[in-house]
Amino acid sequence: MTILSSTLDPTSPEAQASARAMREALAAIDAEVATAVAGGGERYVARHHGRGKLTARERIELLLDLESPFLELAALAGYGSDFTTGGSVVAGIGLVSGVECLVVANDPTVKGGASNPWSLKKSLRMHEIALANRLPVISLVESGGADLPTQKEIFIPGGAIFKNLTRLSREGIPTIALVFGNSTAGGAYLPGMSDHVVMIEEQSKVFLAGPPLVKAATGEESDDESLGGADMHARVSGLADHFARDEQDAIRIGRRIVARLNHRKAAGPVTATPKPPRYAAEDLLSIVSPDLKSPFDPREVIARIVDDSDFDEFKPLYGSSLVTGWAQLHGFPVGILANARGVLFSEESQKAAQFIQLANRSNTPLLFLHNTTGYMVGKEYEQGGIIKHGAMMINAVSNSTVPHVSVLLGNSYGAGHYGMCGRAYDPRFVFTWPSARSAVMGAAQLAEVVHSVSKASALSQGKPFDEDGAAAMRAYIEGQINAEAMPMVLSGLVYDDGIIDPRDTRDVLGIALSAIHTAPVEGTSSFGVFRM
Ligand code: COA
Repeated sequence: MTILSSTLDPTSPEAQASARAMREALAAIDAEVATAVAGGGERYVARHHGRGKLTARERIELLLDLESPFLELAALAGYGSDFTTGGSVVAGIGLVSGVECLVVANDPTVKGGASNPWSLKKSLRMHEIALANRLPVISLVESGGADLPTQKEIFIPGGAIFKNLTRLSREGIPTIALVFGNSTAGGAYLPGMSDHVVMIEEQSKVFLAGPPLVKAATGEESDDESLGGADMHARVSGLADHFARDEQDAIRIGRRIVARLNHRKAAGPVTATPKPPRYAAEDLLSIVSPDLKSPFDPREVIARIVDDSDFDEFKPLYGSSLVTGWAQLHGFPVGILANARGVLFSEESQKAAQFIQLANRSNTPLLFLHNTTGYMVGKEYEQGGIIKHGAMMINAVSNSTVPHVSVLLGNSYGAGHYGMCGRAYDPRFVFTWPSARSAVMGAAQLAEVVHSVSKASALSQGKPFDEDGAAAMRAYIEGQINAEAMPMVLSGLVYDDGIIDPRDTRDVLGIALSAIHTAPVEGTSSFGVFRM
């Protein structure tokens, strides 16, 4: 055993200032999450309840096992847009009849549950997660279909929702639709493409076109029930496999369907009763300074998230800006790559590439803890081959087939974000701490580049260069890039699966690793050509 020691003093002024800043950031995030939880707001929730219906969150709560946690994903989708935060969808992972499932529920209190561009982005990400991790998908359907004013952004790409459902099914990943209300037009293919369909008496409405549209198209007179009611679909069309008396009955039937799926996990934890870390999770608030220029030792984080704070470091004396090593987390083996001191040099890149190959040899999932400003620049480093060494790391990350999970703790800038398995490198999950910042480069550096490029351009054209105007523009750009690098903005764009409270990191990763092990963990020895 190699137990990490800690030098963190949570009572020091620096640590207290860090904790204060982290709590403030958490409070702002909690306030935004509260708006997502409120859905369409009091008026629409009261109207919905008045119709004898449960909200999306109440449905999920009843569907999950009594003791099940619910790892909500992409809760802040759409933050910063004109749409209600959350994307009119509630989604996450929880246990249903003892099986880890991905639940995706329309929120009918937000614009009738209509799908806007953020709903679509979030739903597509959920399907990605279900497919990679072989998680059964339970759709709790009640939606006004496409958000009509933004239809051009969703109609064509939105077809992927139905394609995904059948591809999940092809892969043997069960798909279940519990239809609580409207599921019309394209929405009718949600039950249409699902393996198992439950409809509710006098509540589910599933048709390609409602009575007014049918009348306009063919002149035929019809009514909701004969056109797409649960009774008709259960007795006549055969689209409904189960006829539920009410919402609770539909949820009960949904739970029975999952109980009979015979869907087994590929593996469980290797240690059945893992020991908790030896240091308090509360300290995780105190590690990252609000001034991200101030470095922190990622071992202080690792010591507070891995089992027994037991961590076997790989190449500790080589490429020391990147900490690599082996641990278990909630009993699951992990290889960890964590930035120390920010910059990635050639040594760190080569060390990472070797470490990733080793993890693939031993079929061990990888956890990336980000705090990097990118790969080192400058003549010495260019001549030393920083590009080819960074490429080696990115090659290894891109082609590695063991599951990856990323957590952005602090900086995640430039190609360093890619090398550390940013969102475009298909991490199974990516979570963000409130202290994280991510952009193509630092705001000051970016503003400086824009300034010098525009100055050079003006001079080369013989035009006068307005220094005052340029200084104002530089300040404006710096402000814009700083704002865009914030975690809520990135989460709003569904570039992560959620911002987490640092104190929850271990448990969030435990749920993620458990979900990941629904699918087999298989490494590879097949990589691109490593440029030596
Ligand atoms: N796009 C954009 N906004 C929509 C919408 C859609 N597809 N469906 C509903 N909304 C809006 C409504 O305009 C209303 O907005 P407001 O409260 O700001 O005025 C809000 O969502 C609630 O709608 P409302 O009709 O009052 O709710 P309801 O619960 O009584 O009925 C539906 C919900 C979904 C049954 C009903 O709104 C409907 O039939 N919508 C159109 C469905 C359709 O044909 N969609 C096209 C599919 S591709």
